[in-house]
Formats: sequence, structure tokens, C-alpha cells
Amino acid sequence: MTPDPIIDWESRYRDGATAWERPGLNDAFLTWRDHGLLTPCRILVPGGGRSAEPLAMAEAGFDVTVVDLAESAVAAQRARLDHLHIKARVELANLLTWEPSQPFDAIYDQTCLCALPPAAWPEYEQRLHRWIKPNGALFILFMQTHTAGGPPFHCDMKAMHRLFPADRWRWPEHLDAPVEHLSGRSEQPAVLHPIAP
Ligand SMILES: C[S@@+](CC[C@H](N)C(=O)[O-])C[C@H]1O[C@@H](n2cnc3c(N)ncnc32)[C@H](O)[C@@H]1O
Repeated sequence: MTPDPIIDWESRYRDGATAWERPGLNDAFLTWRDHGLLTPCRILVPGGGRSAEPLAMAEAGFDVTVVDLAESAVAAQRARLDHLHIKARVELANLLTWEPSQPFDAIYDQTCLCALPPAAWPEYEQRLHRWIKPNGALFILFMQTHTAGGPPFHCDMKAMHRLFPADRWRWPEHLDAPVEHLSGRSEQPAVLHPIAP
């Protein structure tokens, strides 16, 4: 099998090729927050890029850790938080080698999974599972492109049920409606709870 090519995220930020970015907060984040599902806690935002949600979380009292491997995105995220004198950790690291010092109450994955090569998804699932405390939750947005190739890679929902199997993750009975994006793509929100091994 041919290995997946390395994805150069830093160049995308530098070239302004960031079609995934939103002008404001993700509707799924607002729904989870406003309905009291996502409340202040120790939270990880993997592949947080330059997204606005980490600041909104920190302002609301969350203890936020952002991890991303794109230098300029990490710098922008840090600058925004520092400017407002808001405490949050922003780490420059590869999620496929990074380890937290302790698990999180919640993880907010806003199109990070779809940014990773699909061959790395099983490894990433293992990491998410062990990075969340037993009663914690994974708030995830599964990118729906319905096209081959990527990134972003299409997160087919049948494949997602296989990747996050029912003996390791408790799925909701019903999923909320997909969230539309300016790019014409959509994201399927889901809140999954890890099941202790
Ligand atoms: C599609 S973007 C989403 C960014 C952000 N969550 C948002 O909604 O704007 C994917 C992000 O994941 C980061 N990323 C990709 N692979 C990564 C890895 N192995 N480790 C850490 N970050 C990674 C990229 O640098 C990029 O910021």
C-alpha cells in the first residue's frame, strides 16, 4: 500500500488556502453550549487551528488546551488569547505523537479527524479514547464531503460507527442535523462517550 503523503498544513495557512475556516462560532458548538451539554471543564481542542471556539470556551471558564502542528496557526491562537490576557495552553505538536499529562473531561474535535490521513484514524481513535476521562465526552464534527480524496477526507457515517465502535463508544440514539458550511460542505455533529475497557 502506498503511504499517505505528508499534509503540509502550515503552507495552507501561509497561502490563505483555509476554506475550512468560519467567520464565527460553529452552530454545533453554540447548540451544545446553549443546551448545557458542553459546560466549563478541562477540554482539549485537537487541530484547533485559528478557530474562534477556544477563545469562546476560555471566556466561558473552560480550562482549554489547543494542540496543532501548524506554526502560524498556533502563533495566531496564542496571540489572540495572550492579547486578552486569557489563560489557555496552545501547544505546537503532532497529535499522533503528543500525549497529555492527564486526561480531559471533554474533547472538541472540529474537523480534525478529517484532516488526518485515513490510515491514521484508528491510531487517533485510540488516542481520543484514552485522553478522555471515563465520564467524559467527545464532541465531534464529522466532515461530509461525499467525494474521494482529501483533506478534508469524507467521514462516511457507517465508517465512523466502525471507527468508533459501540463496545468502546456510546453513541446517541439520534444525531442532530448536519451543520452547513460556507464551502458548501457540511459537518455531522455527534457527542460520543467512551466506554471504559
Ligand atoms: C480542517 S483544519 C480545522 C482547524 C480548526 N479546527 C477549525 O475549525 O478552523 C485541521 C487542523 O488540524 C491541524 N492538524 C492536522 N494534522 C494534525 C496533526 N497530526 N497534529 C496536530 N494538528 C494537526 C491542521 O494544522 C489544521 O489546523
